[in-house]
Amino acid sequence: NQYTAEISAFEPRSAAETEAFRIKFLGTKGIIKDLFDEFKAVSPEEKRVLGKVLNDFKKLAEEKYQIVKEQFESGDAGADQNLDLSLPGEGFELGSRHPLSLVRREIVEIFKKLGFTVAEGPEIEDDWHNFSALNFPEEHPARDMQDTFFINKDAVNGDIALRTHTSSVQVRMMENGKPPFRAIMPGRVYRNEAISARAHCFFHQVEGLYVDENVSFADLKQTLFYFVQEMYGEGTKVRFRPSYFPFTEPSAEMDISCTICGGTGCPMCKGSGWVEILGCGMVDPNVLENCGIDSQKYTGFAFGMGIERITNLKYEIKDLRLFSENDVRFLKQFQSEV
Ligand code: PHE
Repeated sequence: NQYTAEISAFEPRSAAETEAFRIKFLGTKGIIKDLFDEFKAVSPEEKRVLGKVLNDFKKLAEEKYQIVKEQFESGDAGADQNLDLSLPGEGFELGSRHPLSLVRREIVEIFKKLGFTVAEGPEIEDDWHNFSALNFPEEHPARDMQDTFFINKDAVNGDIALRTHTSSVQVRMMENGKPPFRAIMPGRVYRNEAISARAHCFFHQVEGLYVDENVSFADLKQTLFYFVQEMYGEGTKVRFRPSYFPFTEPSAEMDISCTICGGTGCPMCKGSGWVEILGCGMVDPNVLENCGIDSQKYTGFAFGMGIERITNLKYEIKDLRLFSENDVRFLKQFQSEV
């Protein structure tokens, strides 16, 4: 009959179609059940003929159901036939740039406008580049200012350590070139500190170096003032406080008026209205000489800023640990065009 052809031709494309087939033919309200109900009413002679036809029909439907069901269960054929090329593809989420990368790039762009180039150096450094060339005397307590992760000791180079600041890249740059130098040097640095909201065992800095004839402290101030106006908007105030670094003389730390409260006082600036963002100073003549540069002819300035600090102030991030935990709920807030 008509159903025999339908059953033979049945080629399900999904498990749902197979189930629909079962309900239609083999279900408790299905076609076969109906036929058997009708069968009860026919005469005994007809029963003999029809009985065999009905049973064959039922067997055909059951066998077909078994075969297609197994196809889907074992996954072969079913998988192919299930493939609907007109369905939209599975969406995949685009990541976003890390806030520290965004801010580093912004810093680089600002200094590029002033003619600074970009340089990098190794994260594993020897004593000379991280300390000695930078005028840290042997056994001097200034070395303790930076809790160093030492790696090993080398007969030629002495202590090998993770760099504690990007100032080591200044040394490499001056050793390997001739003045004038005008570059910024971004990178990761390491210090052996307990991890908390305010400190981490690694963070990021951008070093700046400008060496030429007649470079003055006024040039340093104007350069950093320009940077702050570009980064945080015109009208952001700066102030310089005298400080100490072995490799600069004179040395200073620079504060900006708090970007959160505008200077009226908040937890970020601890009520003072000012936040420190970097250390700087005139390159110590000893450092120039250590790097083979004539300190009678050349002067220079240097600065080093923490990218985390700059970022915290820009985005009001209060816990440093967020930067390295890779929680997508945090990271995906920083969408950028490129
Ligand atoms: N290297 C210093 C630090 O990590 C910062 C600095 C760089 C200070 C350059 C002066 C000049 O604290």
